[in-house]
Amino acid sequence: MIGIFDSGFGGLTVMREYLRKYPKYDYMYLGDQANMPYGSRSTEYVNKLVVQNVDFLAKKGCKLIIVACNTASADALRHVQQIYKGKPTILGVLVPACEEALRATKFGRIGVIGTRGTVNSGAYERELKKYESKYYKSKNKRAEKKIRITQNACPLLAPFVEEGMIKATVTRMMLRTYLRPLRHAHIDTLILGCTHYPLLQKEIVRMMGKQVNVLSSAKAGADAIESYFERHPDVEKNLSRSGKRIYYTTDNVERFEMLGSRFLGEKIVGEKVEI
Ligand code: DGL
Repeated sequence: MIGIFDSGFGGLTVMREYLRKYPKYDYMYLGDQANMPYGSRSTEYVNKLVVQNVDFLAKKGCKLIIVACNTASADALRHVQQIYKGKPTILGVLVPACEEALRATKFGRIGVIGTRGTVNSGAYERELKKYESKYYKSKNKRAEKKIRITQNACPLLAPFVEEGMIKATVTRMMLRTYLRPLRHAHIDTLILGCTHYPLLQKEIVRMMGKQVNVLSSAKAGADAIESYFERHPDVEKNLSRSGKRIYYTTDNVERFEMLGSRFLGEKIVGEKVEI
């Protein structure tokens, strides 16, 4: 069973990509709605919540756990990986998104948008720098060329997406304001570093223009799993595959089902759990 968790229903954009690409596995989703949003919480608190979530999914038998939340991946992934030491395997969404951006960028001008927690953690910057020479400098003949990263926190976007105001004028105005510094920095690649932003992707592409590659961490994470399985066949071998889909939430089931169905793109039936 593959376990996927997020601060709420946003991580269902990640699950959607997994279901599209790898429908044969069993999945268990946990939305920690009771503690949402993670994006404005302290690192210490997010660490604690992430351990709780992993613990819950591990006890339910998940052999692979995906931290779908960007804020949680940024703040707490290493922390839980150190605690669980590969049992179960825990992966995040940040590294695949960075690798994808470095493969895609032409001029090394990369933008990142996310919650305040994700941006303030500096995790995207750190990971982009870490993989810079592997993907960008190596494909760029002039090896001295460095990437330039521009980040902007967009704390109001997630709540507006949750309210279903994807096409509202106010959301467009906000988006334009948040994207302005990235346009001024002439980025050529933009990472959507939040579970909610794939729902705004069309509008963001329109505003940034065709010359900018816009990629979501949700899709990058799912795309990268295939090669991860090739490198780690032992992990893949352990995953059950009977088409099971289980959806848990730590709070309001009705809201979880209503919003979750929108994020996943198909109807879900949730169950409330204490963790
Ligand atoms: N899931 C969060 C993320 O991807 C956004 C919502 C929240 O702040 O909890 O960063």
